[in-house]
Amino acid sequence: MRKKIVAGNWKMNKSLEEALSLTSEVVNMVRDEVRGDVEVVLCTPYIYLPVLQKYVQEVDRISLGAQNCHHKASGAFTGEISASMLSAIEVPYVIIGHSERRQYFGETDALIAQKVKIALENGLKPIFCCGELLEQRQNEDFIAIVKDQITAALFDLSAEDFGKVVIAYEPVWAIGTGLTASSAQAQEMHAALRAHVAEKFGAQVADDTTILYGGSCNEKNADELFACPDVDGGLIGGASLKSREFTNIIKSRM
Ligand code: G3P
Repeated sequence: MRKKIVAGNWKMNKSLEEALSLTSEVVNMVRDEVRGDVEVVLCTPYIYLPVLQKYVQEVDRISLGAQNCHHKASGAFTGEISASMLSAIEVPYVIIGHSERRQYFGETDALIAQKVKIALENGLKPIFCCGELLEQRQNEDFIAIVKDQITAALFDLSAEDFGKVVIAYEPVWAIGTGLTASSAQAQEMHAALRAHVAEKFGAQVADDTTILYGGSCNEKNADELFACPDVDGGLIGGASLKSREFTNIIKSRM
């Protein structure tokens, strides 16, 4: 079943006090102002996840996510967090393969495929990120590039496991730049990715796949982006750090 999701990726932001107040504000606003079946995911820094659980449990359709996990089950990996550790604190979602992980930490499609697999093995729901670089967009091979990212990371999965994955298309040139993809650009890519999934897993799996848009999505452009037939919601960075703007984006997905 295709879900409508608006996820906030806080990245490495907010003090503990700010995290508590932002979460409390979003929970109250969603409970009081948001109707329908949109699902809200707050992807916060690891250290806040246990303490925020009790805040988000007040509203069924709000849950937490991590921003990454290691590709091994356990071991001598200083500073890392395993999928089983996230599962143990009942965090349902985990962002995997964000472009900033690819850029700053050298994550490859093969490594990301391992992360998706271990996340699924531990009962987590991966939010798999893909997207082209500016030069790839300018060279016009951007659709093939992003299809290849999905093939490499997700196409060895069974149809059942693939059905547990949320895809987030985030053109790298739109992340944090204020240069949002147009709704036509977003719809073109989302439709192409859905068709790519249909070729591999069939029309029903493709139709049930949630594909989010990320990259300078804000309260001013969310309505137009979310009106696209193949855009099922958003993965929001900067705008998720402000409770009123993030709630307005969620309301655009109602
Ligand atoms: O994961 C979402 C993020 O990369 C988008 O960031 O600040 O452009 O909304 P932003």
